Amino acid sequence: MEIGDVYQLEITKLDHKGRGIGRIHNKIIFVSGALPKEIISAKIVVNKKKYAEAEMLKIIKRSDERVEPKCPYFEKCGGCDLLHLKIESQREFKRQKVKELLDHFTNVNCSCVKPILFSDSIYFYRNKATFKVKEQVGYFEKKSFQIVPIDQCQIVAEEINDILNQMKQLPFLDVITEIIIRTSQKKDTMAILKVNKSIDRHEVKKWLKNYVNTLLLYEKGEYQILWGSGYIIDTIGNFQFKISKDSFFQINSFATKLLYDKVSEYANLKGTEQLVDLYCGTGTIGIYLHKNVKSVLGVEINKNAVMDARENANMNGVSSTQFLCGDVAKLKQKIHADVVIVDPPRAGLDHEVVSFLLQTKPIRIIYVSCDAATLARDLELLSTFYKTMEITPVDMFPNTHHVECVALLCLKETS
Ligand SMILES: C[S@@+](CC[C@H](N)C(=O)[O-])C[C@H]1O[C@@H](n2cnc3c(N)ncnc32)[C@H](O)[C@@H]1O
Repeated sequence: MEIGDVYQLEITKLDHKGRGIGRIHNKIIFVSGALPKEIISAKIVVNKKKYAEAEMLKIIKRSDERVEPKCPYFEKCGGCDLLHLKIESQREFKRQKVKELLDHFTNVNCSCVKPILFSDSIYFYRNKATFKVKEQVGYFEKKSFQIVPIDQCQIVAEEINDILNQMKQLPFLDVITEIIIRTSQKKDTMAILKVNKSIDRHEVKKWLKNYVNTLLLYEKGEYQILWGSGYIIDTIGNFQFKISKDSFFQINSFATKLLYDKVSEYANLKGTEQLVDLYCGTGTIGIYLHKNVKSVLGVEINKNAVMDARENANMNGVSSTQFLCGDVAKLKQKIHADVVIVDPPRAGLDHEVVSFLLQTKPIRIIYVSCDAATLARDLELLSTFYKTMEITPVDMFPNTHHVECVALLCLKETS
């Protein structure tokens, strides 16, 4: 097999990144954009010892599950990778992927994976977007740092698209390297312009003041608020949350309530528990659950998010929460915890956090994960003392291969 060779092949399944998988002479071939049961022709573009990657040239036999992607940039843009697959099939793929990862990396019985939860908003759901700027404004191309110019992104909120299009008119685009736009269910909007040279602040105001509620400049490692409060307010259920410039907030406001309600169900709180919320962001989960616990201790590394969390507790009239700023992996003090929630970034739990959980032995751990592979790894590490009872996938990122999961782990009985 050589680079440039063209083959006809049948796609048998999708890999965990949503790429089609076929075989030629028993070698695995990954083909982006191809779907199971399709017969395609494809050109080899990467040829390694154990696998190859190919670029699809033509669909010879089409899958019934294929749909026309609603996006003119689909072929090039590195964003959504499943826009060409029926939404029901996307959800089935994600649930199956969680099961396969469990099967591969753990002894957890994959029948514990429940049906996927989803919201009906499968387009225009993202409340945050980061656009790259270099002569053009858009997203990076697949596997490249070239920019695909974007006029309308199908998965970001409409007000983000509107602000983006106003930004594209700016006469001083050449000093901007990145534009971050955030919005909320209340359509409270924030933009951050990352610049590599000083910028005329009056010009920025002239062009954007009517379009964005608050705007910050990020220059030489420092933020400066040009107007507005420097934060936005979003809601989840009956709660309001302040979100500062670099604080994490779940990016799909439509599906977040489903996620948090599942966390609440799994936590099964009676009102007497000390709840520990590790990787707590702006304190959202602890505040969401506060009514059914004695107290909440949140831990978060980002100091702005911790300040938001404290203000969010006040704003929602919650007095039973305490938030610590620091690295969860370096928690020194002895903490009593009846129930622990962990919601780490994609890399999953540091081994110190796994050790902390195994020593602290809460009765239940609720693990919220945005990467099913690291979730599977960590469930196996925790399995010395914890049985994984249930995992519910949540479709937080429709039209992409990503899936959020909530897992319930219970302390095993020791004799
Ligand atoms: C996936 S977010 C979850 C936030 C929150 N639970 C929510 O639902 O909005 C992960 C959070 O962990 C924080 N974080 C990342 N590494 C950390 C660490 N080593 N120690 C403490 N917090 C960390 C991030 O700043 C981020 O706010």
